Amino acid sequence: MQNSFAKDVKKGLNAKLKYLESKYFYDEKGDYLFQKIMELNEYYLTDCELEILKNHSEHYRRFFQNAESHFSLVELGAGDGYKTKVLLEHLAENQTNFSYLPIDISGNVLKILEAEIKREIPKLKVEPYTGDYFNALDTLNKQEAGRKVLLFLGSTIGNFKYKDALKFLKKLNQRMNREDLLLIGFDLKKDPNTILNAYNDKKGITEAFNLNLLERINNELGGNFNIADFYHYPTYNPVNGEAQSYLISKKEQKVTIKSLDQSFHFQKGEPIFMEISKKYDTETINKLAKEAGFEVKENFFDQKKYFTNSLWTKR
Ligand code: AVJ
Repeated sequence: MQNSFAKDVKKGLNAKLKYLESKYFYDEKGDYLFQKIMELNEYYLTDCELEILKNHSEHYRRFFQNAESHFSLVELGAGDGYKTKVLLEHLAENQTNFSYLPIDISGNVLKILEAEIKREIPKLKVEPYTGDYFNALDTLNKQEAGRKVLLFLGSTIGNFKYKDALKFLKKLNQRMNREDLLLIGFDLKKDPNTILNAYNDKKGITEAFNLNLLERINNELGGNFNIADFYHYPTYNPVNGEAQSYLISKKEQKVTIKSLDQSFHFQKGEPIFMEISKKYDTETINKLAKEAGFEVKENFFDQKKYFTNSLWTKR
């Protein structure tokens, strides 16, 4: 039992309430399926954030630009950079002195990103980093002295419960200096049906996205999950803003995972907790920022106020 994937799967499936970690969704097929999710009508998040980035890229440029000196634009969880490209293009067109450092746990998706930027914004300097955000920031802090602008877009922070988001942001804060900035995307509370539909699309892409993690276990850890024996069950709680996804076992069954040297028993109707996508309101965003040691400079919204990009500095 070598890698952290194996360890985390073992831990999750041995828990009383079985769970798998959503950060493992993103293998090659998972990256592809998430790109398909971003294209769905139901998945409003992408369009809303793209609208914000388009409308405010000049605002952002003024905040980011540090007199005449260079800054590092560091993107945590860059993915395929579909939305960020709008901002990058604007910065590049205005002779902004910066380099772009996308970080992602999927090396596969970073290759796609790098190729596209080479093609579309050839003069931009790109330095991709595959792996852990904090390791990447520690490395960067040792190398470079100038301003860091951290991008954490797409509501990736929603994959944490409030307390874990706070912990994560405190760690981020420790790695930032006075002149650094954080631009962070939050999906906002809204009509509960709109939110639930975003995680329950008619084409079944979100279901395939969740089931793909079982396939990944089969492929990489020698599991024998029968994908057809599980279904996707999304929930949304409008009180705490938590959208949660589960895979439900359709029958009583046993699944064996060779490299874990173990079998797992599932009751009929038993859930595996897969993902949380937490939705915020401005009050909770302000509280989170304050508790993590940040000051909110400005919140940028789309027309419908479905989503916000919140610009923070260290307090
Ligand atoms: C990439 C974490 C922002 O939670 O909305 C999309 C992932 N999961 N559909 C989200 C996801 C199901 C997405 N994030």
